[in-house]
Amino acid sequence: EKGGYDRFMLKEIHEQPKAIRDTLASRIKDGLVDLSNEVALSPEAIRNIEKIHFVACGTAYHAGLVGKYVLEDLARIPVECDVASEYRYRDPIITDKTLVVVISQSGETADTLAALREAKKQGARVLAITNVVGSSVAREADDVIITWAGPEIAVASTKAYTSQLIAIYLLGLYFAQVRGHKSEAELKEIISHLGQLAGLAEQVLEYEGKIAEFARSIADNEHLFFLGRGLDYAVALEGSLKLKEISYIHSEAYAAGELKHGTLALIEENIPVVALATQSSVFDKMVSNIQEVKARGAKVLGFAVEGDSELQKSVDEVITIPKTIDLLAPVLTVIPLQLFAYYACIQRGYDVDKPRNLAKSVTVE
Ligand code: M6R
Repeated sequence: EKGGYDRFMLKEIHEQPKAIRDTLASRIKDGLVDLSNEVALSPEAIRNIEKIHFVACGTAYHAGLVGKYVLEDLARIPVECDVASEYRYRDPIITDKTLVVVISQSGETADTLAALREAKKQGARVLAITNVVGSSVAREADDVIITWAGPEIAVASTKAYTSQLIAIYLLGLYFAQVRGHKSEAELKEIISHLGQLAGLAEQVLEYEGKIAEFARSIADNEHLFFLGRGLDYAVALEGSLKLKEISYIHSEAYAAGELKHGTLALIEENIPVVALATQSSVFDKMVSNIQEVKARGAKVLGFAVEGDSELQKSVDEVITIPKTIDLLAPVLTVIPLQLFAYYACIQRGYDVDKPRNLAKSVTVE
């Protein structure tokens, strides 16, 4: 059942190229995204959306954070992203022109379901991104985009996250098209990059040995930092959650520009820092943040995009992400972070698939 792998999590990490392909399949027609079979919103209703709220928990929430960048960038719709357990109790401002997008692998998370019900009660249209056909979230939402990741068994979510990102890109591209925000040529260009992601994810999986080595070298540390800007910050949060969840190493993810506002005080000799620098618009800023932590003795694993030789000079080890457009990089960047958490956990001798205190699906508050 583990398909030759020792643990479900490793199997599921390796299934990501397939999950990406399956989630894209049949949704692209003549080079453009077509979600009209699953999203019943009329073109007029899509044009009338005034704001989007992404609502989810844990890893799915981190997908929503990427969703904020993606929908704002592609469709220029204002987006807020909330943790479901906060959203349901904070009396959010919802109108009939609000689209609430709930994201849930299982479709059974109690807080997400309650947030969905609250949003519907207040008159929002609710679209669900879920991995389980017929789940409570799928049944109660107005529109559903299924992520075709297949069953995810390991408590730590991996392939569900990457396929949630694919669903978000599809949604962003579809809305951009209907609202006329991008030209057909621009959309087709992005979609052609989307089509290459599964193959690039296969390439990233080949770095497994190198990541395992770095993970082993930091496995005795009790604290670690993840840094990034823009989309890299959203991915850093997910990498940090993964590490905490299974290896029990305390880690924090920071928007790199926030370092000076407190966190820098914690950087000392030999503290491991994972620095993501895949976003070209803030690349130089990231390099100076990396230099700041290096100057205080941090041991830095940097993530750079293929072809970049600049970062190598400032870090101790580098992982190279194959070239894609900045917007799509999270799908590739997160994979080595999942492997990193996995091998840190193995090195420390913990149960990867069933971390302490956690359940796969949190069906109570
Ligand atoms: O099934 P859901 O996507 O609603 O689950 C949400 C979270 O409980 C889940 O993503 C959790 O954070 C994972 N264990 C993280 O790896």
